Amino acid sequence: MNIVVVASECAPFCKTGGLGDVVGALPKALARRGHRVMVVIPRYGEYAEARDLGVRRRYRVAGQDSEVTYFHSYIDGVDFVFIEAPPFRHRHNDIYGGERMDVLKRMILFCKAAVEVPWYAPCSGAVYGDGNLVFIANDWHTALLPVYLKAYYRDNGLMQYARSVLVIHNIAHQGRGPVDDFFTFDLPEHYIDHFKLYDPVGGDHSNVFAAGLKMADRVVTVSSGYLWELKTSEGGWGLHDIINQNDWKLQGIVNGIDMSEWNPAADVHLHSDGYTNYTFETLDTGKRLCKEALQRQLGLQVRDDVPLIGFIGRLDHQKGVDIIADAIHWIAGQDAQLVMLGTGRPDLKDLLRRCEAEHRDKVRACVGFSVPMAHRITAGADVLLMPSRFEPCGLNQLYAMAYGTVPVVHAVGGLRDTVAPFDPFADAGLGWTFDRAEANRMIDALGHCLNTYRNYKESWRGLQARGMAQDLSWDHAAELYEDVLVKAKYQW
Ligand code: GLC
Repeated sequence: MNIVVVASECAPFCKTGGLGDVVGALPKALARRGHRVMVVIPRYGEYAEARDLGVRRRYRVAGQDSEVTYFHSYIDGVDFVFIEAPPFRHRHNDIYGGERMDVLKRMILFCKAAVEVPWYAPCSGAVYGDGNLVFIANDWHTALLPVYLKAYYRDNGLMQYARSVLVIHNIAHQGRGPVDDFFTFDLPEHYIDHFKLYDPVGGDHSNVFAAGLKMADRVVTVSSGYLWELKTSEGGWGLHDIINQNDWKLQGIVNGIDMSEWNPAADVHLHSDGYTNYTFETLDTGKRLCKEALQRQLGLQVRDDVPLIGFIGRLDHQKGVDIIADAIHWIAGQDAQLVMLGTGRPDLKDLLRRCEAEHRDKVRACVGFSVPMAHRITAGADVLLMPSRFEPCGLNQLYAMAYGTVPVVHAVGGLRDTVAPFDPFADAGLGWTFDRAEANRMIDALGHCLNTYRNYKESWRGLQARGMAQDLSWDHAAELYEDVLVKAKYQW
């Protein structure tokens, strides 16, 4: 199959969160399964190896023409096409920044260009649009792609063979705006019904994600737990009716992890400063050395017997770092250490700094975005705390388990799917879960966890062993995606 993955971000070129990781890894896994795979993303920076393909095209968005150029590089069996145009230039990691209308116009331009790339960009000596084509669009930013594919091509009897799959990584962002937004999309008038939505809070509005969900041939979301939540009025964020009506084309597939990045045996961020690579066989010394290195780097007391708890995540409402702050006195009252890494909302940054200032002997706040630090905490911590209020899939708990770090999570979305609760009697399970995103529930779960860490060494080792033995690689998830692509292509 010819697969064209279209997204607003892709690691390592530009990444603000899990979406970037997925787009960096899934295409390679699909290519390993023998498909021709192309990734299309905007060119926000220079991206050194990419070369100009010499194609120029013009697209009109809201009355303004933009000239678009394609850059290309071929990496790990995947064609990367970067769409170069003035609105994307020099945005680097500030890819969602700017006025609402500017963001929307960037996404319109990107989708208009991306849907044509398979026909106009000569990659690896051939074009992708030769009859065997399926697009994979991701989140609201590229939800216009299935719409353009239908309106510009299929409705006109063109490219009947081309199909699209839309992946929901996060339904909270939908590309909502006034109904008049529709007139910037350049679509036939009757398409307005696909975008127009009414809800009690916003009234009549235009919703990009809604239209994409209706137009895509198949829809994937990043866990079965999240799929279930999307169907409820609490979890669907106003789109639950559309999700329910389209149930037949929906499937949940848990993300994999990129083993070339996240593997304790080869992790490049563990090569210096006292950190070390390790496997399950060398877990005891490996983790001890990483923990010692982390404690030293953070200026915490260097002690092997004290449980070190980590939090890694965006500082926003979703990730629930404020719930940890609510529990800070309890945590600081334990013989335990806590390190929190992340950046985001200024008030939450201050909150983290306050937690550290009040408990300098035990708590560290690393405010900022640091890939090496994320790897080092994953390796050096004993426990990873994820009190996310909602979590479509979540990757950090998967990374943690691969590193022998035990997750304590709010049982929601992908966290519920991937962290089976510890059962001491059956010697089963992978971590602790709590059923409400509230400090007292989290304290309960964390209390059991710390007790096991201190007093039941064998159970602890079992938890680590089961976590590390899982096949969390993308190869498995890619196989499931392949099924969906086949369904998109042949079953409709
Ligand atoms: C979004 C979700 C997260 C998921 C990621 C990749 O960032 O919030 O749960 O893991 O997308 O799919």
